[in-house]
Amino acid sequence: MRAVVTMVSLFFLGIQALDHWSYSGDYPQLNEWSEKYPTCGGQRQSPIDLQTKKVKYNKSLRAPILVNYEEEELEFPMTNNGHSVQIALPDSMHMIDSDGTTYTAVQMHLHWGGGFPEISGSEHTIDGMRRAMEVHVVHYNANYESFEKAKEQPDGLSVVAFLVEINNYAENTYYSSFISELANVRNPGESTTLKKVNIRNMLPQDIQHYYTYLGSLTTPPCTENVKWFVFQDTTKLSLSQVMKIENSIKDSNNQPLQNNYRETQPLNGRVVEANFQRYALSMGDSPTYPPKSAHVLDSHPH
Ligand SMILES: *[C@@H]1O[C@H](CO)[C@@H](O)[C@H](O)[C@H]1NC(C)=O
Ligand SMILES: [Zn+2]
Repeated sequence: MRAVVTMVSLFFLGIQALDHWSYSGDYPQLNEWSEKYPTCGGQRQSPIDLQTKKVKYNKSLRAPILVNYEEEELEFPMTNNGHSVQIALPDSMHMIDSDGTTYTAVQMHLHWGGGFPEISGSEHTIDGMRRAMEVHVVHYNANYESFEKAKEQPDGLSVVAFLVEINNYAENTYYSSFISELANVRNPGESTTLKKVNIRNMLPQDIQHYYTYLGSLTTPPCTENVKWFVFQDTTKLSLSQVMKIENSIKDSNNQPLQNNYRETQPLNGRVVEANFQRYALSMGDSPTYPPKSAHVLDSHPH
């Protein structure tokens, strides 16, 4: 069974590599995607800026249940698809939404910045702030037979997303084997096998609190059938780990693959929900900054 899953995954990755588009360079690049892929110019595109003041708290939303994310004995095919590094996931991994829908995991990949350490590359921003990187775990609705079928359906996909922040002082060893395998997928089309990783541990510590909204794939064909789950908590990596990720991979023009993120897209009346309340509310939702009660929280002497 494992062999079959792997073959299917590699086939899928192979197809992805044939997709012709880029972030910058080959036609169509970022601002030209909608010329070749009209849906990229649609009304419910991703990523978006998560404006915390406008997020609607919905207390009936429960945390998604992540099943078999923590399996350690697996080997994951990992490929440079020319746009990112992608880790194929076994279909034993799945996610159960608050509304009971089961989504089967397919693959996980990253978006990052680069060029200079201060250039961040997350896709979703929070109140306009872009984080260092963003990781997407792509799933398909298990009511459909396969990813290939589901990806064409209006309720076909879900993506569990999280942002990566830089914590200068601590190496995150849960990312060590992933980062050391990057050298084996330097060029587009190259694959390797990722071992000794626990996907659960690559996620943020808190996987209870999240934002959710209806959007799209953030890469062509930008299909508008993705239910997004963006965790409130972030994963922390050291600056040197982020710089290794930003400088290890080449695109199909033999250039460093950097800044493989899409700009935020218009909300167009969509509502972003969260299963947690904005922390500012508990301090009094003051329109002034800093909040009136800030001195109570600020115990650092100046
Ligand atoms: C809150 O979430 C539940 C479960 O997904 C949904 O059925 C309901 O419509 C939402 N409530 C509001 C007020 O949006
Ligand atoms: Zn992505």
